[in-house]
Amino acid sequence: MTAPKKLFIKTYGCQMNVYDSERMAEALGGRGYVQTDRPEEADMILLNTCHIREKAAEKVYSELGRFKGLKAARPDLKIAVAGCVAQAEGEEIMRRQPLVDLVVGPQSYHRLPDLEARARAGEKALDTDFPAEDKFERLGSRPGVSRGPTAFLTVQEGCDKFCAFCVVPYTRGAEVSRPGGRILAEARDLVARGVREITLLGQNVNAYHGAGPDGGDWSLARLIREMHRIDGLARIRFTTSHPNDMTDDLIAAFAECDRLMPYLHLPVQSGSDRILKRMNRGHTAEGYLRLVERIRAARPDILLSGDFIVGFPEETEADFQATLDLIEAVGYGQAYSFRYSPRPGTPAAEREQVAPDEAADRLQRLQALITRQQRAVQDAMVGREVGVLFERPGRLPGQMVGKSEYLHAVHVRDERARTGDIARVRITESGPNSLSGELAG
Ligand code: SAH
Ligand code: SF4
Ligand code: F3S
Repeated sequence: MTAPKKLFIKTYGCQMNVYDSERMAEALGGRGYVQTDRPEEADMILLNTCHIREKAAEKVYSELGRFKGLKAARPDLKIAVAGCVAQAEGEEIMRRQPLVDLVVGPQSYHRLPDLEARARAGEKALDTDFPAEDKFERLGSRPGVSRGPTAFLTVQEGCDKFCAFCVVPYTRGAEVSRPGGRILAEARDLVARGVREITLLGQNVNAYHGAGPDGGDWSLARLIREMHRIDGLARIRFTTSHPNDMTDDLIAAFAECDRLMPYLHLPVQSGSDRILKRMNRGHTAEGYLRLVERIRAARPDILLSGDFIVGFPEETEADFQATLDLIEAVGYGQAYSFRYSPRPGTPAAEREQVAPDEAADRLQRLQALITRQQRAVQDAMVGREVGVLFERPGRLPGQMVGKSEYLHAVHVRDERARTGDIARVRITESGPNSLSGELAG
């Protein structure tokens, strides 16, 4: 028997890339690869890339540059680029960085084993098609291999929304939903392998509408209700949602399904109607605030998180102030904020840009507000009892780390806490990025 080849994967970007990397590792497992966390011993290095902001995309080239020495020392080493930069700049990558052997776009991952074989044979292999077949069904999985307690499961890909700043509709293509029955089968398989919490993923996950095994069209709410019946699946989450696809039915699921966790990532990007319009978001600030009210009426304890872009073209100080006002009005438990980054091929990239130091200053002010809110929400957990799913041992002896229903990291030092357990924990302390507590009862 030949020794297994070693695969080093580095993943950038969103959770969908994390899921894709797992599936690609499984697919390459069929070609004799096992994963390593040491690039210097790898037979293949695979970068799964993100194109969302300029910094993310440029990282790929600097990272590739660093592999020059490795490749010179071991000419058999194959270097592969996957993900959204591969999709957007596939041929340019091959040109700019001759050490790259293989480029594969997100919709072609099921062809990776063939591409790998071609690269092994000394060819340059590039595939950035948008084929019609369901890549996830063709990727194959390895049933029986045990898993950690949490897993991602992509149910929907691509985006038809075309926000004026965003590359996703171009890198991932049009919205496609996987059939409901296949998702349920994958979820059951994950649970059989030890998974207790599944996060359903999609660029626009709440726009999910897949074919149900009963022949009907399943919404995300329906899919969640079906998942709710899977024995042993204790927690369900989903991300990322667009405000315009938060249907009444989906909001009702938060009230009805106790295994649907009280956490919702609901990006709004800006609090200014003028900017929202220029962003092509399709809703107003007021519409978003009313939606938040309806969600909180269904699940009063829900923790909301959001994404914000500052310094979008033509954003004035008054527009920015409207964003701060919206943040004050909502009260986020978690939020991510970015300085606008002009992306090639998107409409907003052509418009008049906000001065960089102005944008940087706004980002700082916004982040200060968000940090205050996050801290306040986290501090308010002290004294409360939460459910924690333990994910792994912590750094200190006897310590375990897990997540609460609200996605806060929680540390507990107790020999009785084991990976995969869900326990009631009384929160005793709120630190900068996590909570600490003790097992209750
Ligand atoms: N599908 C998700 C988000 C995808 S990208 C949604 O609709 O919310 C994740 C986040 O990156 C976005 O919410 C946005 O805040 C940010 N982002 C996207 N394009 C950007 C750009 N050109 N510059 C800065 N931030 C951007
Ligand atoms: Fe990008 Fe907008 Fe689609 Fe989200 S909804 S992926 S921000 S285009
Ligand atoms: Fe990045 Fe592509 Fe995800 S651009 S955020 S990896 S969909």
